[in-house]
Amino acid sequence: MAPVVTLTLNPAVDMSTSTEYVVGDRKLRCETRVVEPGGGGINVARVLFELGVATEAWWTRGGAVGERLGHLLDATGISHRSIPIEGDTREHLTVVERASGRQFRFNMPGPTLSEAELDACIDLVAGLDPATPYLVLSGSLPEDAPTDFYARLARVAPAGCRIVLDTSGPALEHGVEADIFLVKPNVNELSALAGTTVEDEDHIREVARSLVRRGGVDVVITSLGAGGATATTAEEHWHVHAPTVRFRSAVGAGDSMVGGLVAGLARGWPLADAIRYGVAAGAATVTTPGTQLCTRADVERLVEQMERGS
Ligand SMILES: Nc1ncnc2c1ncn2[C@@H]1O[C@H](COP(=O)(O)OP(=O)(O)OP(=O)(O)O)[C@@H](O)[C@H]1O
Ligand SMILES: [Mg+2]
Repeated sequence: MAPVVTLTLNPAVDMSTSTEYVVGDRKLRCETRVVEPGGGGINVARVLFELGVATEAWWTRGGAVGERLGHLLDATGISHRSIPIEGDTREHLTVVERASGRQFRFNMPGPTLSEAELDACIDLVAGLDPATPYLVLSGSLPEDAPTDFYARLARVAPAGCRIVLDTSGPALEHGVEADIFLVKPNVNELSALAGTTVEDEDHIREVARSLVRRGGVDVVITSLGAGGATATTAEEHWHVHAPTVRFRSAVGAGDSMVGGLVAGLARGWPLADAIRYGVAAGAATVTTPGTQLCTRADVERLVEQMERGS
C-alpha cells in the first residue's frame, strides 16, 4: 500500500518548446520539444516521487495519447494504474517566446467520460485499501462530468483515508461540501467560492474559516503565488512566506505545493512543517523552465533558507 494515491480524471501529455517570436501567418521554427506526463494528480505524484514518498497515480487512459502517457509514466518509475476510457486523453502545448520570455499555453479539450467510465472511477475509489492514509483529488473534472463528482468520490472513499482536494470552479464548490481533510484553493479560487473578491489576509481567514465551520473541511491552504500561502484550521490561521527565487515558469507551482505538503504529511510531520515544505516545493518549481517540476535538492535548500528566515 502506497501512503498516497493520486487520482487524475483529466490527465494530459504536456509538450513544451520555444521559438524566437510568436507571430501569425508564418511557420514558427521551434526547438526540440520536451514531453512530460501531466495533469493535476500526476504532477502531484511526480513531486511526491521526487521527494522520496511512495505514491500510486491513478489516471484515465484513452486512445493513442493515453498510451503515450502510459509509456511516459512507466519511464518515470512512478507506480500507476489506469482506468480505460473511449475518448482521447488530452494534450497541452506550452510555447515560450524567447525574445520576450512570454509563455503561451494551449490546452486542448479533454474527453468526456461515459456513465460506465465514471462508475468505474467511483468503484476504484470505493475499493481503495482502507489503510491508505491520503487520497489526492487534483485537477479539472472531465468535460460534462457531474460537477459534484469529487464530492461523490469523497463520500465513497474509505473512512480513514484523508482527502486532499485541489480543483476549481463548480467542482471545488461542490467538493468542499464533502468530508475533505485539506483543500488548496489559490486566492482566485477562494474568491470564486466566496462569491466576492477576497482582498486581504483578514478576508482570506474569514472565508477559509467559514469553509471549516461548515463542517466537512479540516484545513484550508490558500496559495498566494509569490506571496506563499496561508493555512486556516478551526483553531489557527497563519501565513508562510515564499522564499524569493529566480522566476522561470510557474507551470506546476500549485501541484508542486500540494506534492510537497502531502509528502510532509505522509511522513507524519506537523502541519506547519508540511506546509513550509509545500511552499518550498512550489517556489522550487518556479525556478525550472516550461513544465518541469521541482528537484528534491532545491526544495530542501529552500526549506533550510526559510527556516533560517532569509
Ligand atoms: N513567483 C513565485 N515565487 C516564489 N514562490 C512561488 C511563486 N509563484 C508560486 N510560488 C509557490 O508556489 C505555490 C503555489 O503557487 P500559486 O499560488 O500560483 O498556485 P496555483 O495558482 O494553484 O498554481 P497552478 O496554476 O499551478 O494551479 C505558492 O504557494 C508558492 O509557494
Ligand atoms: Mg492550482
